[in-house]
Amino acid sequence: MEKKNMLVLFGSPRPHGATARLLQTFLQKIDPEAVRVTTFDAYRGNYHPCTACGYCQTREACVFHDLDEFDRELRAADYLVIAAPVYHMSFPAPCKAVMDRWQRYFEARFAMGIRPPIEKPKTAAFLTVYGSSNPEGAHMMTRQLELAFTVMNTKLEHVVEWPHTDQTGTAEIPPEVMEKAHQAALAMMEKT
Ligand SMILES: Cc1cc2nc3c(=O)[nH]c(=O)nc-3n(C[C@H](O)[C@H](O)[C@H](O)COP(=O)(O)O)c2cc1C
Repeated sequence: MEKKNMLVLFGSPRPHGATARLLQTFLQKIDPEAVRVTTFDAYRGNYHPCTACGYCQTREACVFHDLDEFDRELRAADYLVIAAPVYHMSFPAPCKAVMDRWQRYFEARFAMGIRPPIEKPKTAAFLTVYGSSNPEGAHMMTRQLELAFTVMNTKLEHVVEWPHTDQTGTAEIPPEVMEKAHQAALAMMEKT
């Protein structure tokens, strides 16, 4: 059986923080025999932000090439996973920079009439952590992803939240969050 492809965008600056722990927990249930996982680290990649130059209005490409590999992996992906903490009710800036670069898919769809701009359909999961107990930021981020995914042939099917990390610390993932992450991964894998 051919392996499925999972593309992960990791959006925390802390390699051992809560986001990393939540992602690791999710990935525990992804069978490496069945799924090839490719991870892009938004902070380490230091990707260029979108400059609204208009290049992608007439070409299926970006004027910056630092995300070409991400684009190739995205087109090949069956599953897309976004793992990011809440920063000021939104995505951390380096993660948002990658998302703004997805503007090329809006332009492909609406400026060039390519439908769908990305051929292979995908299911997505959003894994997020936040210091407070206020879920508003996570909800806002979910909405942002849903909007972007409308032109990426991608359906957001799973959202896993780990709240109030600033009170409880990030050493131990709460059992109910662990369970939700495991369930999301298993449900995602069931979907072919
Ligand atoms: C710049 C910054 C902004 C933050 N903004 C929020 C916020 O709006 N709401 C919230 O609940 N927590 C906020 N936090 C707390 C983080 O979401 C929390 O510490 C989380 O565990 C960080 O993820 P990490 O452990 O993967 O680094 C913020 C933290 C930082 C550093």
